[in-house]
Amino acid sequence: MKNPVAFLLVFYLLLSSCTGVKKDEPYVIAFSQCMMDDVWRQAMLLEMNIEASNYDNIRIVIADAKESNETQIKQIQQFIDQKVDVLIISPNQSDSITPIAVEAYRKGIPTIIVDRKIGSEEYTTYVGGDSYEIGRIAGEYASAFLPENATIAEVWGTKLSSPAQERHLGFINGLKKKNVNIKTVVGNWRREIAKKEVSQLEDFNDIDLVYAHNDVMALGAREAISERDSALVSKIIFLGVDAAFGKGAGLEAVANGLLNASFLYPTGGDQVIRVAMKILNKEQTDKKYILNTAVVEKNTARTLLLQSDQLINYQNRIEQQKRNIDMLFQKFSMLRHSLFLILSLLALLLFFAIYIFYINRKINKKNKQLHIKNKESEEQKQKLICLNEKIEQVTSQKLQFFTNVSHEVRTPLTLIVGPLEKWIKSTPESPLLSDLKLMKKNADRLMRVINQLLDFRKIENNKMGLTISQVDIVAFTENVMSLFEDLAKSKEICYEFVSEIPTCQIWIDQDKMEKVLTNLLSNAFKFTAVGGKISVQIKDGCF
Ligand code: FRU
Repeated sequence: MKNPVAFLLVFYLLLSSCTGVKKDEPYVIAFSQCMMDDVWRQAMLLEMNIEASNYDNIRIVIADAKESNETQIKQIQQFIDQKVDVLIISPNQSDSITPIAVEAYRKGIPTIIVDRKIGSEEYTTYVGGDSYEIGRIAGEYASAFLPENATIAEVWGTKLSSPAQERHLGFINGLKKKNVNIKTVVGNWRREIAKKEVSQLEDFNDIDLVYAHNDVMALGAREAISERDSALVSKIIFLGVDAAFGKGAGLEAVANGLLNASFLYPTGGDQVIRVAMKILNKEQTDKKYILNTAVVEKNTARTLLLQSDQLINYQNRIEQQKRNIDMLFQKFSMLRHSLFLILSLLALLLFFAIYIFYINRKINKKNKQLHIKNKESEEQKQKLICLNEKIEQVTSQKLQFFTNVSHEVRTPLTLIVGPLEKWIKSTPESPLLSDLKLMKKNADRLMRVINQLLDFRKIENNKMGLTISQVDIVAFTENVMSLFEDLAKSKEICYEFVSEIPTCQIWIDQDKMEKVLTNLLSNAFKFTAVGGKISVQIKDGCF
C-alpha cells in the first residue's frame, strides 16, 4: 500500500464503472419541414410524437423552412454536416430541394422523403399519400354531381409542388373527359391566399364546384364566395383534401357542413417514425410506403372527429404518464446516485479504517522494537558508565601513585643535586670534576623529568598557572639550545640556530616555554640519525 491515493482512485473508478448509470446517446432523427404552422402538419407532428413515445433511444430534431427553398437547403446542409442518423425531408418544391436531398443520400445518410416528392429516385424510402389517386377519386366524386359543361374552380397548392400537380392530374382523369370548364387559382396551400385569389375571380355565379388541393384552401374559397354572396355557397359543392383533425381543419369543416367532402391525405407521421426505426435497426425497408385514402363525408367526418378527439385524449394521457414516469425515473436515478454515493463513502470509510488499523499495527510493532533497543542501549550505557568510573578510578589511583613517587624521588634528588653543586664549585681542580658534572647533569635531567610529571598532574587537576614575564626570545632560544650541544656533537649532528632578527621581546612563561622547546629538541634528537641536521629558525614577523 505504497500510494493510498492512487489506490483510492482506482477503487473509486472501479466502483463507479460498476454502479454508474450508463446511458447510450440517442439516435438523432432530423426532420426538415417545408412549413409547420398549418393544421395538417401539426397533426403530422402529433402523430410522430405519439409513435416516437414508444422508443427511448431517439431524439427528433425539427427544422422549419417556412416555405423557403433556400432556407430548407441550408437546414438540410446543416443536418448533413451534423451527420444525423436519419434525415426526413418534406420538400417545399420538388426541383429546388432535389439536389440537396440527393447529396444527403449520397453521403450515406438514410433519407426518408415524406409527403411531397423529389425529382430523383436517390433516397432511402418515400412515405406519403397517393395524391394522384386522391385527385382521381375527387374527380370521380365530382363528376357524379356535375351537370354537363359545369364550371369548376380548382384551387392549386403551388404549381411546382408534386402533390398539387398530381392532385390536378388525378382530378382531370377522374372527371372522365366530362366536359367541364375549369377556373384555376393558386392558393399556395394557404387559406388566406386562396381566399384572396378566389375573391379576385370576376364571377362566381357559374361556379358549380370548388376543388381545392387542401381543405384550408377550400374553406378560404368558401369564405370569399360567401362574403360576396352568402346564398351562393349552399349551391356550390366544396371539395377539399387532407381531412385532417384539429381546430379549423378539414374533418371539423366536413362535420360542420362547411365542406361537402374531403379526401383523406394521411400525414404518415407515425409511419415515418416506424420506417426510421426500421432503418436504425438495420431492417429491410420498402422503397415506397403509399398511404391509403378515402372520401370523408359528413357522417364519416363526425365519427373520425370523435376518434381523433379520443386519440388526442389518449395522447395527452400518454404524455402525462410519460411525464410521471420521467419524474419517477428522475427520483429513482437520484436515489441510485445517492445510494452510490453512500456506498462509495462507506467503502472509503472502511478503507480508511483498515488503513488506519494497518498503520497503527505497524507503528505499535516499531514502537515495541524501539523500546527493546532503547532498553538494550540504556543497559549498555550503564555498563559503560560503570566501566568508565572504574577506569577513572584506576587512572587517578595510578596518577596519584606516580605523583606520590615523584614527590618521594624529588626530595632525595634535591638533596643529591645540592651537595653535588657544592662539590663542583669547591673542587674545580678535582680529577673527579668531569664525573661530578656528568652526575649533576643527569641529576638535573632526572629532576626535569620528575618536574614534568608533577606539572602534568597539575594540568590534569587544572592547577597549572602561568608566570608571565618579558623575555628576549632570541637569547632564550639560544640558551635552551645550548643544553643539547654535547648531544649534537656526540651524534655528529649538524645543529644550527638561525634568526632573522637579533632580538625580540615577548611575554611568555619562561619555565613552560623552556619545557616546550626542550621537548621539541629532545624529540628532534631522538628522531635524527647520526650525521643528520637539526635547524632552529626564528623568522621576522613570527611574534
Ligand atoms: C400542408 C399541406 C397539406 C397538403 C400537403 C401537401 O402543409 O399543404 O394541406 O395536403 O401540404 O404537401
